[in-house]
Amino acid sequence: MYKTNTEAKAYVSSLLSLLEEVKTPAGLAVPYTAISLCADLAKDHSLLIGAQNMHSAEEGAFTGEIAADMLVDAGAEFVIIGHSERRKLFGESNADVAKKAQKALEKGLQVIVCVGEEEKHRKKGREAFLEAQLKESLQGVKKDFLASLCIAYEPVWAIGTGKSAKPDEVDQIHQFLRSILETMFTKTHAKKVAILYGGSVKKENIVSYMKKTNVQGALIGGASLKAHDFADMVQLH
Ligand code: PGA
Repeated sequence: MYKTNTEAKAYVSSLLSLLEEVKTPAGLAVPYTAISLCADLAKDHSLLIGAQNMHSAEEGAFTGEIAADMLVDAGAEFVIIGHSERRKLFGESNADVAKKAQKALEKGLQVIVCVGEEEKHRKKGREAFLEAQLKESLQGVKKDFLASLCIAYEPVWAIGTGKSAKPDEVDQIHQFLRSILETMFTKTHAKKVAILYGGSVKKENIVSYMKKTNVQGALIGGASLKAHDFADMVQLH
């Protein structure tokens, strides 16, 4: 919940001028109110504009919610589903996440599904927790859509805390998550899914994650709020 439309316009204009020559795929998940504005600004650029959440229903009496068709119509190309703040502060279950992911994929959006353990599971039971969370969050997702799916591994204890996970630890967890995807789908299909790391990623540490074999990208929160910092991280990627 950052940036009014005036702020978003200044941010995206400055980001686009900084990213002119960059080939790395990059996206901005913006507030609903800024999607259309940002999508218009970025229309001749490879920068993707996306949303931070959506509802799983086609449409209906869900006051205050937003449907996939509305996001697409506003110009969103991707959506983040199941961010830990949605799960924790707004009570989203794995089943809710799965329904949203299915709907978004059917509507042609690229989808980033977030998973990640809380501190209490970090030392004990982490793999079992993540396995269940990943499987349940992707329940019913068809393998044909996997090229449009990314998983973001975001340990809750690392989000917004400055306590980023160690790159080796992330590499190992990503490998584990991929092995789960392989059991859920096929090895070939699982290969299509990019696995991103998120949790206190910043200019100073992004390269240490990107160097790892099992890390295909980053989901960046606080450190992306200044356009030149975000542009630097895209360039370093
Ligand atoms: P952070 O947030 O980069 O500020 O830790 C990550 C996120 O909100 O997904």
